[in-house]
Amino acid sequence: MPCSTNDELNALVKEAKKVLQYGKVADYIPALQKANAEDLSAAIFYPNGRCISAGDIEQNITLQSISKVLTLALALMDCGEEKVFSKVGYEPTGDPFNSIIKLETSQSAKPLNPMINAGALAVTHLIKGESVEERLQRLLDFIRALAGDRAISYDGEVASSEYQTADLNRALCYYMRKDGIIDEDVEELLDLYTKQCAIQMDCLDLSRVGLIFAMDGRDPVREKQLIPVEVARLCKTFMVTCGMYNASGEFAIRVGIPAKSGVSGGIMGSVPNRFGIGIFGPALDEIGNSIGGMKLLELMSEQYDLSIF
Ligand code: DON
Repeated sequence: MPCSTNDELNALVKEAKKVLQYGKVADYIPALQKANAEDLSAAIFYPNGRCISAGDIEQNITLQSISKVLTLALALMDCGEEKVFSKVGYEPTGDPFNSIIKLETSQSAKPLNPMINAGALAVTHLIKGESVEERLQRLLDFIRALAGDRAISYDGEVASSEYQTADLNRALCYYMRKDGIIDEDVEELLDLYTKQCAIQMDCLDLSRVGLIFAMDGRDPVREKQLIPVEVARLCKTFMVTCGMYNASGEFAIRVGIPAKSGVSGGIMGSVPNRFGIGIFGPALDEIGNSIGGMKLLELMSEQYDLSIF
């Protein structure tokens, strides 16, 4: 399949923008309220290094839950599958991303998967390093490499805004600590997690990171294996089964690609062996996924025959 064009992508973005009026910018992290609900931008990154884009793609977005895929990859590289899956399970929940219910009703507070908040906190707990600063630095170095050595950092205002209002995530941590899933200081873990969620990049960087997963961990532009094949495949599988939270089933039917969303309105997509996608549309649907981004991916899937199923 040849590369698409900017004009084609612009036309799809224009069509997808029609649903933005039904969405709402996230407000439970106060700093995210500043986003413009009318924005929708997208980039596609191809293995030959070519990219196409539509909209204001230079805006930085915080990764929020998209970071969960990246910490999962690093934790698997740091600790191996056995250790990681002793702390977190493999199964979708059907519950909202920040739900506490399964931690309480299951025999042990082991989160069902690494894409919900509880599971992501358990995974972040595993990132190696002597201090929060060192662990964050290692994560940033890893993400910089995935994004082609771009100067990536985190948004301090978004991180502290989330940290100050993260009582639900605090509660998840205490549940898990009572059962030994995590054993570090909860405030330190939240400090690291909120900074991880506030790591920012633009749509083009995001599409490049999506491409690395699409290519089974290999950077085709620089011809370097950045993530072991089995780790990249495992991450992609979680993107399919849990990447859109309790909308993952419908998304698999309507779009059919590995993808991960975040409450900032970002979506990273990985079309196996074809291209990476980065989308930013801060107006969210009721579940917490970018409403315009979901529509755009549906239109792209139809136009470019993306479904892997
Ligand atoms: O922990 C949180 O609630 C946020 N930092 C991330 C949640 C998120 O992005 C869910 N996405 N749709």
